[in-house]
Amino acid sequence: MLIDTHAHVNFSAFKDDADEVIRRSLAADTWMILVGSETKTSKRALEYANKYEKGVYAAVGLHPIHTHEQKATGDDYDFNARGEEFSYDVYEKLAQFKKVVAIGEIGLDYYHLDPAADPAALKRRQKEVFLRQLELAKNLKLPAIIHCRQAHDDMLEILKKFRKDYKDIMPKDKAWGVMHCFSGDEELAWQYFTLGLNISFTGLITFSAKWDDLIRRIPNDKFMIETDCPYMTPEPFRGQRNEPILVKKVAERIAEIKNLSFERIAEISTNNARKLFNI
Ligand code: NI
Repeated sequence: MLIDTHAHVNFSAFKDDADEVIRRSLAADTWMILVGSETKTSKRALEYANKYEKGVYAAVGLHPIHTHEQKATGDDYDFNARGEEFSYDVYEKLAQFKKVVAIGEIGLDYYHLDPAADPAALKRRQKEVFLRQLELAKNLKLPAIIHCRQAHDDMLEILKKFRKDYKDIMPKDKAWGVMHCFSGDEELAWQYFTLGLNISFTGLITFSAKWDDLIRRIPNDKFMIETDCPYMTPEPFRGQRNEPILVKKVAERIAEIKNLSFERIAEISTNNARKLFNI
C-alpha cells in the first residue's frame, strides 16, 4: 500500500468528482491525508475523512497564502486568496476530531507577496500565524505539515527557536513534522532533519533531476511521498489534473533513483507516514 501524505481532493478542482477520485485511490490501496488551507477547506477535508471508515485522514490549518487577501498565480494554479483572520479556537475545535492527524498546511510563503502591499507587514503576519499554529500542534500533540516557499531563512530561525523553547517536551525519537513538497538543496534538507523534521517528495522529482543526489543519500526514515494534487502532476501525466492514485509515480521514481524495489519504497514511505501521523 501507499499513503499520499498531502492531497487536496477537498479543493474545488475536485468539486464534481471528489468521492470518485477517493474511491479510485482506495481501490488501488492508496490512502491519503487531505490537507486544508483555510477554515472552509479544512472543514471539507474533515467531512470527507469522516465519510470513509479508513484510508482517508485530514489535516487542518491556515496556509500562509490565505493570511492576506491577494491574487495567487503560478504554473498550475490561479486563485484569489481570502485573507482569513486566524482563530486558534476554530482550528483547535476542528483538530479534536479523531480523523484529524496533523495541523497543516502552515508555514511561510514569500513568493506571492503583493508588492503593492507592505511586504514587511505581510511577512510579520505570516510568521505570527505560523507560530500560533505550531503552538496548537504542540498543545494537541499533533505533527505539523509545513509549507515553505522562498522563506527558508525565516523558517529555520522560527523552527530553531521553537524547538529550543520546547526541547523538553518535543519527541526525541521520532519526527514531529514534515517539510512538504521539499524543493531545497541537500544542505537544507539536513538542517530540517537536525530539527526533527521529515521531508516529502512530489511529482516534481519525476521531471527534474535536481533532487536525485539527495534521494540517493537520504536516510530511509526521513522521507515520505505526496501528490499535492491537483498540482504537481507527475510524468507522464503533466498538464492533467493530479490525483492521489498518481503518488505511485513518485514512489516509482524514488525506487529507480535509489535502485531499490518499488515494494521496498512503498513499505519505507508508508511506515514513515504511519509513524509520523499515528495511522
Ligand atoms: Ni499543499
